[in-house]
Amino acid sequence: MKVSLAKLSRSAAKADLFIAGYFKGEKDLKTLRKIDPVFARAVEAAITKKRFEGKAGEVFSSYQAGYRQAPEMLLLGLGEKKDVKAASLRKSAGTLIGIANSRKANKVRVLLDSFVSAAVSAEESVKIFTEISFLAAYKFTQYKTPKKDDPSSAPASVELVTENEALVLGARPAMSRAEKIAKAVLYARDLNNEPANVMTPPRLAEEAKKLANEKKIKCQVLELEELKKMGMNGILAVNQGSVTPPVLIVMEYGEEHKDKGTVCLVGKGVTFDTGGISIKPSKGMEEMKYDKSGAIAVVATMGLVADLKIPLHIVGLAPSVENNVANDPTRPGDIIRMYNGKTVEVMNTDAEGRLILADALSYCKTFKPTAIIDAATLTGMCHHTFGDKTCGILGTDQKLVDAVRQAGETVGERCWQLPLWEEYGECVKSHHSDLKNVGDGFAGTITAAMFLKEFVPENTPWIHLDIAGTAWCTANRFDCPKGANGFGVRLFTEFLSNWSFENVSKK
Ligand code: BES
Ligand code: MN
Ligand code: ZN
Repeated sequence: MKVSLAKLSRSAAKADLFIAGYFKGEKDLKTLRKIDPVFARAVEAAITKKRFEGKAGEVFSSYQAGYRQAPEMLLLGLGEKKDVKAASLRKSAGTLIGIANSRKANKVRVLLDSFVSAAVSAEESVKIFTEISFLAAYKFTQYKTPKKDDPSSAPASVELVTENEALVLGARPAMSRAEKIAKAVLYARDLNNEPANVMTPPRLAEEAKKLANEKKIKCQVLELEELKKMGMNGILAVNQGSVTPPVLIVMEYGEEHKDKGTVCLVGKGVTFDTGGISIKPSKGMEEMKYDKSGAIAVVATMGLVADLKIPLHIVGLAPSVENNVANDPTRPGDIIRMYNGKTVEVMNTDAEGRLILADALSYCKTFKPTAIIDAATLTGMCHHTFGDKTCGILGTDQKLVDAVRQAGETVGERCWQLPLWEEYGECVKSHHSDLKNVGDGFAGTITAAMFLKEFVPENTPWIHLDIAGTAWCTANRFDCPKGANGFGVRLFTEFLSNWSFENVSKK
């Protein structure tokens, strides 16, 4: 797909579908009249007869071979102009691509100006349309046998048109950035939608190496023997039930920017979570192929930060394992000594994410990070608490929490904070070892984070994102079909793009 921006022209070659936005109660149809007086009259009649009001999501369409811009002219209702926000504009953009898909329109032209409101500037609107066009048109077709004569339903081109000449040139950098970001999100979706029989830990490591090669960044993969030598027993214990070896992927970008700070990103990469001996119920277990979402968000972000040349030293760590029940699995009650020396009683083999993250978090020390952020599909409890619309955020540095939350707010990946009060730490203390990997069954999202906190290098500001509810869509959404959605890539990138030492409290 191609997304472009051009000046509105009367003599442009016809598109298949022309779409304009319409705010509820809008009186002035001047531009529309200029574009096509016949269509403008049809719209006026529909509005007078109250056949179309412009409620959010409402559609008025008219088909006539004689129209100048395209045989099908369509108005998309945007609701009241004063209610428009970035979030609602994203939704409109997604709806519009959905309509184009269903029409099998190959060439879509969109009147950008008709979507611009006080709350979202023209340039911001261009950004949103570019990003969402790519995201909403996405499909994972890897394993679908193509049907004969079935054209791809996604449009080949989305042409944004505007009367604002300055915007056409001025918005170029923002567009190119939005396209890079969107493509990294799609890359993450592609990797994550791959099933566990394909996307094993070693395969994920291969993908990371390939990406690192393309983007000319460092990538080191710590393999089984190395992990054994280093005593990464959290990673090893979880993978013990699998015949496929585990890996710890370490990607590094921007060493030359160390003076601006070092941020470590850590992602949970469980390519499949059966639960281990504490096995999960079979209903819905297929979704546990997405238990690698955090790791993939980190890998994709590493490629993207190199693309965007963000002036910061960024290290991505992705411990990857398969939590299986064959081979010689870890049993409940087993006690292991973690990479940082602390001992853990594995009470429940289904609380595996925290074991692999713990070793990766401790290993961050090697890079002397200014801040650490991890993302993990860690607790079903987080999904229950926030549903699929909000990501849980917990951390040891309020400034950092606020900065990450703000980044999420900006890109539409919203986070809500839960406390990390000391009292919760008692729940993960163990009788026969330093720690145990589950709490008392309550406050599961918090106690999981309290466990992780024990492995974060001392005096290092740290954030944990529990993406259990937000990492994949269980039904089609305006900007993503059912499946992995690439959550975290935009949030990480927005945060890193705005990074400063002000994001952490001075120690
Ligand atoms: N990967 C799961 C968490 C999960 C569940 C994510 C459902 C998304 C949807 C994690 O490894 C897990 O099994 N967590 C347990 C922890 C419990 C044993 C303390 C859980 O949430 O039940
Ligand atoms: Mn689990
Ligand atoms: Zn898991």
